[in-house]
Amino acid sequence: MQAIHQSVLLAEVVDFLAPVDGGVYVDCNLGLGGHTEGILAQCGPSGRVIGFDWDASALALARQRLAPFGDRVHFVHQNFASVRESLMEIGVQGIDGLLLDLGLSSLQLDDSGRGFSFKGSEPLDMRMDERIGLTAAELINRASEDDLADIFYYYGEERQARRIAAWIVEERKKDVIATTDQLVDIVYHAVPRRFHPKKIHVATKVFQALRIAVNRELENLKKVLEDGAALLKPGAKFCVISFHSLEDRMVKQAFRDNSSLRVLTAKPVLPGAEECQRNPRARSAKLRVAQAEGC
Ligand SMILES: C[S@@+](CC[C@H](N)C(=O)[O-])C[C@H]1O[C@@H](n2cnc3c(N)ncnc32)[C@H](O)[C@@H]1O
Repeated sequence: MQAIHQSVLLAEVVDFLAPVDGGVYVDCNLGLGGHTEGILAQCGPSGRVIGFDWDASALALARQRLAPFGDRVHFVHQNFASVRESLMEIGVQGIDGLLLDLGLSSLQLDDSGRGFSFKGSEPLDMRMDERIGLTAAELINRASEDDLADIFYYYGEERQARRIAAWIVEERKKDVIATTDQLVDIVYHAVPRRFHPKKIHVATKVFQALRIAVNRELENLKKVLEDGAALLKPGAKFCVISFHSLEDRMVKQAFRDNSSLRVLTAKPVLPGAEECQRNPRARSAKLRVAQAEGC
């Protein structure tokens, strides 16, 4: 059965964006189109959304779901890091709101067969956009021990990074590391039992780190935070939902350091208990919102 993705902090995002008739909104992470549907349902009949996703299968599902809105949605199969260039190409200069809902959809995590989850046995791919370069398997089998350790340490905040990298280098001498269960097994044995975390799977941070590296997630985020802010009309809101501390820190700093933005959320908005119970994936979500000055 196809996984259903539940949009996180949907009501809060729509409240902050307060979409109006005639407004133009950018959804940088269209996914299955849940947030876009909420925005379009709220604004009048001439409000529009320009939706980005670099995953062709997500985009195809969003097209189906959003078909009732006709040409009020413009689909862009691109990395959101190119938001400025892509909007220029379609002749849009200023926007009334922008949303980032970072990370993966449930569909990618559970059903894509691309190795995002450590629960089964899938090829170690991890590319959200199948047009981009290196797969996770290529990275794992080719990168130096130091580079692997840095990836796990900086992108996964994994304290056992050096041990895991050393173990990988030994194991790949014997056989190519091609699947998620091979990698899980390596991490499991590389980390001494006394350091196995209690609340999360021992391979969680390594998987997060690899995904960030393969998809260049932090570079893309840096670019969209800069370029997205420059596209906002006076008074327009910039909403970002992030799912781990590396992203949240970048968002907080980018909003604070941008003199054209006013931060509306001194503390991030978190999902309530009811939402976390209904959708456990919402638990780590944090929403930060800033508003373009000048209105
Ligand atoms: C958490 S899901 C979005 C869910 C969506 N807001 C909804 O309500 O259905 C994140 C989506 O962003 C996409 N994505 C992640 N990084 C991207 C990037 N740099 N450029 C374009 N799309 C990206 C992923 O492919 C995924 O479909």
